[in-house]
Amino acid sequence: MSGFSREELKSYARGKRAEFEGVLEKIVEIPSVSVEPGRKADVRRAAEYAVSLLESSGAKAKLYETKGHPLVYGRFDRGPNYPTVTVYNHLDVQPAEGPDWNTEPFDFIREGDKYRGRGTTDDKGPAITALFGARYALDQNVPLNIHFLWELEEEIGSPHFETTIRANAKEFATNSVVVSDTVWVSRSRPACPAGLRGLQGLRFDLQTGETDQHSGTAGGAARNPIAELSHLIAECVDGKTGKVKIPGFYKDVVPPTKKELEDLRKCGFTVKDFKRDHLFRSLRVNDALEVMKRIWMMPTFEVHGIAGGYQGPGVKTIIPPKATAIVSCRLVPKMSGAKVVKLVKDFVKKKNPDVKVSAEHALPPYEGKTTGPHADAIRGAMKFAFGKEPVFVREGGSIGAVLSMEHVLKAPVFFLGLSLPEHGYHAPNENFDWPQAEGGMAAFADYFRRLSEM
Ligand code: BES
Ligand code: MN
Ligand code: MN
Repeated sequence: MSGFSREELKSYARGKRAEFEGVLEKIVEIPSVSVEPGRKADVRRAAEYAVSLLESSGAKAKLYETKGHPLVYGRFDRGPNYPTVTVYNHLDVQPAEGPDWNTEPFDFIREGDKYRGRGTTDDKGPAITALFGARYALDQNVPLNIHFLWELEEEIGSPHFETTIRANAKEFATNSVVVSDTVWVSRSRPACPAGLRGLQGLRFDLQTGETDQHSGTAGGAARNPIAELSHLIAECVDGKTGKVKIPGFYKDVVPPTKKELEDLRKCGFTVKDFKRDHLFRSLRVNDALEVMKRIWMMPTFEVHGIAGGYQGPGVKTIIPPKATAIVSCRLVPKMSGAKVVKLVKDFVKKKNPDVKVSAEHALPPYEGKTTGPHADAIRGAMKFAFGKEPVFVREGGSIGAVLSMEHVLKAPVFFLGLSLPEHGYHAPNENFDWPQAEGGMAAFADYFRRLSEM
């Protein structure tokens, strides 16, 4: 087959735009927040809608039950002798509340080329874009089987993903996987991850009493669990520099190679854009290379929240009986979550033996492939669609399903992400946009064509 025409794909996308927006609206308006127990029925509704969407697009689709939220699988099978590609996305989203949203998070708002709403960019927009790209390729009779694997537990660390695909490994068999759940360096710099950080979730709990007590009658002698947790956290990490002070924490970190540093220098990242896109007033460091190393190649110790005590107006003079800190560490290649848990537990035991440390979800770090025919096909497809080859640099986030798919399906995983830094991953006012969707449809269609010719 000869190559696709970019102009024809543009007019295909234009013709499908209303349908694309209708589908995105439907799925964004289902609040599939996987972490909230009260949203279980909504997550299921999203999965059921996804099955019906795949079916009405001509796929055979099925919902797989797990011990948590279901998994959606749809297949466009065109021939037993054709290669198969599996497209992975997730349809669950982060919680969305708070005063910083300018519109209702679960209302789909269209403002010109911009689409607003929780999940528009992470990861419902890219998922629907890939489906439309596949439909074009299949309409052109590309000799390829295209399967869609849509997870609904990605944002809680994919706790049931691996066991579910293992139990159905035959049905899920594939030659390669393409994941669309990552971020470009900037709108003018397409990017593919050369690696992803892993994650080790942690929780610190400290209880020193039973109930609130008057700080006038007991203050001075009573232990204060919030103050003790704050002190402990400050012993773990230098809040100003971010340097982790737990002995051995950095032991397995591999320094970047010359080539990696060169790639970073050329990748188009600027501190100015980074601050603007993420609405930061200032940063810990201001050198671009140092910022990139920190967000993509170094581990972290992050406090996400401290809970306990009084949160209302004015001052309430109590000593709280307990406090909790939600913490996580980003991991880089060669680091192990289990080792980090042991380091942290041993350290805390020495510093404050009453603090209970529990390990939460754990995702291993991932080293991606940047060479070979698939990576070249991604390069070619991105160039075809967006006029520019992607840079391959590491990304700082984590996707639990990636390593599971490589292990269980024994298929290589590649990335064709479409999100931009300013789309606001996990942030209020999350958005996606038509240029990324239109180009994304072309990129996916062209990637599928290239795969079929490999
Ligand atoms: N799409 C992100 C992963 C990501 C983030 C890739 C940034 C590239 C750059 C994914 O949806 C995500 O948010 N993962 C979580 C997993 C966690 C909640 C277990 C993450 O990284 O925090
Ligand atoms: Mn995501
Ligand atoms: Mn996410």
